Amino acid sequence: MTIPSRWVYIALLIQLSAAIYAPVREYSGPNFFSGWDYYGFVDNTTWGNVTYVDQNTGSSQKLTYVDPSSGHAIIRVDNTTNIPSAPLVNRNSVKITTQDAYPIGSLITIDVSHIPYGCSVWPSFWMLGTNLTWPFAGEIDIIEGINSLSQNQMALHTTPGCNLVANSTQTGHTVETDCSTGQGCLVQETKPNSFGVAFAQNGGGVFAAQLDVSGIYMWFWPRSSLPQSISHATSQSTMDLSDWGTPTAAYPSTGCNIAQYFQPQQLVLDITLCGVWAGVPSIYSSTGCSGQCINNVIGSGNPVYNEAYWDISYIRTYIATADANTPSPSAAVVYTTTTVDGASSTSDSPSSSTTTGSGNGNNAEHATNGGASAPRVTFGSGISITRALLIGASVAALWML
Ligand SMILES: *[C@@H]1O[C@H](CO)[C@@H](O)[C@H](O)[C@H]1NC(C)=O
Ligand SMILES: *[C@@H]1O[C@H](CO)[C@@H](O)[C@H](O)[C@H]1NC(C)=O
Ligand SMILES: *[C@@H]1O[C@H](CO)[C@@H](O)[C@H](O)[C@H]1NC(C)=O
Ligand SMILES: *[C@@H]1O[C@H](CO)[C@@H](O)[C@H](O)[C@H]1NC(C)=O
Ligand SMILES: *[C@@H]1O[C@H](CO)[C@@H](O)[C@H](O)[C@H]1NC(C)=O
Repeated sequence: MTIPSRWVYIALLIQLSAAIYAPVREYSGPNFFSGWDYYGFVDNTTWGNVTYVDQNTGSSQKLTYVDPSSGHAIIRVDNTTNIPSAPLVNRNSVKITTQDAYPIGSLITIDVSHIPYGCSVWPSFWMLGTNLTWPFAGEIDIIEGINSLSQNQMALHTTPGCNLVANSTQTGHTVETDCSTGQGCLVQETKPNSFGVAFAQNGGGVFAAQLDVSGIYMWFWPRSSLPQSISHATSQSTMDLSDWGTPTAAYPSTGCNIAQYFQPQQLVLDITLCGVWAGVPSIYSSTGCSGQCINNVIGSGNPVYNEAYWDISYIRTYIATADANTPSPSAAVVYTTTTVDGASSTSDSPSSSTTTGSGNGNNAEHATNGGASAPRVTFGSGISITRALLIGASVAALWML
């Protein structure tokens, strides 16, 4: 159908002033752990000294459970088993991956009260495109850190050709601009209380990631300064980003063709111990820890891993219903979001570079998603653009009277 351009114009105005992300799914409370696959074998991607348990072991050993008093999901390292010194040492921990994959056009929020921390501890909440070999489908690290670090780090991992541009509008500190390097295009948080003991003592906070053809954007707010759109949100409400402020990390498409480098992303939560980042002796000692990393893993597990747990109120996923207002200093800039019903999502082939990306850096970490079955790609209902156009049309009709 051909829509008169004036109607489109008005519909666009309405979309820009209205909340435009529709809720897709919430992982929370008693249902938090449905919809995830448990890894179920040793850490063979970041080479930490852990065995990632299967779902039954996770529940029976209380490594994954819903806290009855808070209703929050707890995901933790085993801190009750005595592990004697041996040539090969692995402690039980958890890595879980959503069965659903979230395409460009998605928005993710996570409300966390406690991120695992302590010497040898390496937690991560991240996203991985799994329908191609790593990193051809892209990786997005939203929460990540090690040992006694006090600042969160955000990063993208891709094949060569995707970069964080110098003129990116973000509050974080750029450590690396090339997303194909070992550590990825890495941005360090500059707000206080984003990780470790300070994050937990401050009551945690909320992190968010927006996947848009115009760019990938990530935010962090400490508990005390959540925007109203976040603090008032429910599992059913739409999300409007207009009070979100400048993101911590912004990867505009001027430096990275998002649709080319990123396929639909599965969400991953994990905690490893030591491994190719936290456990590298020089890194271990320069991030506030003494002795040898493995000596934390060996022994009773307590109190050394008493703080090695995630406490999560919810993870919410959204889909753009129309043109989304992305974080821009200029309200006049209108970005285009591809995915309304999935049909319009660009799917160019990833770069044909021969880079394999396997383990060439401290933090070239996450590699494959082993253990998870093929993801379901989730899209929004697709009704909202129709609704917006109908509203636009009726307003236009009134306006033309
Ligand atoms: C720790 O795990 C790594 C990776 O699996 C392994 O190479 C190393 O030998 C382990 N160290 C010990 C003491 O088990
Ligand atoms: C950043 O620079 C690029 C290339 O010069 C330009 O296309 C883009 O508009 C600039 N972005 C901002 C936010 O200034
Ligand atoms: C394990 O850690 C939790 C806190 O995360 C603590 O309540 C519990 O007492 C610890 N277990 C042991 C055996 O110390
Ligand atoms: C990966 O998934 C996306 C979205 O479903 C699709 O467009 C693309 O063709 C897939 N790529 C491969 C290699 O399967
Ligand atoms: C990790 O181990 C599992 C089980 O042996 C295997 O299926 C998976 O392919 C391995 N992943 C990597 C990256 O080696």
